[in-house]
Amino acid sequence: MAPQSDSGKNVQHGAALWHGRFTQEPAQELMAFTQSLSFDQQLWPFDIIGSLAHVHMLGATGVLPSGDVAVITEALHAVRTEFETGVFVFIETDEDIHTAIERRVTQLCGDVGGKLHTARSRNDQVATALRLWCKHNVAQIVQRTFGLVETLVLRGDESGWGQDGIYLPGYTHLQRAQPVLLAHHLAAHAWAMLRDIDRLQQSLERLDVSPLGAGALAGSSLPIDPSVSAAQMGFGKVFANSLDAVSDRDFVAEILFDLALLGTHLSRMGEEWVLWTTEEFGFAHLDDAFATGSSMLPQKKNADIAELARGKTGRLIGNLTSILVVLKGLPLAYNRDLQEDKEPLFDSVNQVSLALTAMTGMIASATFHPDAMAHAADAEALAATDLAEWLVQQGMPFRQAHAVIGELVRQVLVSGESLKSLTAAHPSLGAQAAQLIGDGVGVRQRKSPGAAGPASASVQQKLLRQEIDRLQKISA
Ligand code: ARG
Repeated sequence: MAPQSDSGKNVQHGAALWHGRFTQEPAQELMAFTQSLSFDQQLWPFDIIGSLAHVHMLGATGVLPSGDVAVITEALHAVRTEFETGVFVFIETDEDIHTAIERRVTQLCGDVGGKLHTARSRNDQVATALRLWCKHNVAQIVQRTFGLVETLVLRGDESGWGQDGIYLPGYTHLQRAQPVLLAHHLAAHAWAMLRDIDRLQQSLERLDVSPLGAGALAGSSLPIDPSVSAAQMGFGKVFANSLDAVSDRDFVAEILFDLALLGTHLSRMGEEWVLWTTEEFGFAHLDDAFATGSSMLPQKKNADIAELARGKTGRLIGNLTSILVVLKGLPLAYNRDLQEDKEPLFDSVNQVSLALTAMTGMIASATFHPDAMAHAADAEALAATDLAEWLVQQGMPFRQAHAVIGELVRQVLVSGESLKSLTAAHPSLGAQAAQLIGDGVGVRQRKSPGAAGPASASVQQKLLRQEIDRLQKISA
């Protein structure tokens, strides 16, 4: 059946764009299994940008007369308006967004619409639309990540970097280890997020290459100029190898890795918030708007955002695995397998976007409990390393000092006496060393460059701001 040429609004039937050599219409089963329209519809703005650039190039190179270019361009604008106003109607033979748009252009402008696909294949078309989609959507993820970084820095600044800054125990093996400034702890997550931004920006730079003009796989016999359409779409570069242009999905794999790692960072942070907001830790509580209740247990207030930030990482890692497995073993150039690139990509971008804003809101609105943090961090045992280092300053080899203090800690456990009194009475330690044990003392002992106390805070604050500014300039 030939495409109908009415206004198109209620058209339900048509023929596949590639129907020429076929004697039968596609089976329902084939369409149901091979269609991508159900998930690639969101590419429409980028398919139209690509088509506008392509037809512009066909005009600029003299492949199409300017009259045809004007007619097709007008039809593409009309299709854009139909999408924007929600009146675009798909028909059952629309395999994907690309065939749907070309079909509709031809309905609107008649046979001349059939010239839009001159020197173009869906293979370079889909690769173009997907790269444009990434440029737009990944840039938004970067902005949301900046939002979370700024929130972490702000909450850190509020909690103080100075002598009276809020501090909590730092942990190793989830056992209390040494006191750290809360600002330092929050900044640790900010540094990880800044590396995520750096990676995403580098991936964006690498994917900024137009594949349009590669055709199905080997270019065209017509005098096209891919650099013209690339410039029109705002790509920084144009492909050098047509086979690579249509088959390369490295950019999808890279973004999925970047998002899997970003999600892993959110997951680690989420786990801490789950712990911090338990009654056992009691280091923070969540704003009601960013917590959930239980359907059965009236007293419950749960950190579901933090848990889902942790839980969603499963599918982010799954999506990365999925694209790598699809690509593995694929011969050049385009294979229909590549259609499987989109759902993992769209899913990860969507989920990470949601997670970033939810976590940002949760952290921005949470309340810290400095007393509970300080109480846990001022436990005497957390001064043990500082006592050993005091002995080192008296000339004792560290390994020996470690053993002396380890023995002292053992005596505390056995005798039930305080570490402070045993330290004061110890022949190698005494009153001066005992001053290392006391509320708020430990965090101020963290003095070396990059350490967790107030002494080096101003350096870190400056470095953090510098890195944020550097990355923001790249995104601007
Ligand atoms: N929907 C397809 C995809 O996403 C478009 C490319 C189809 N190309 C082809 N030769 N069948 O990959």
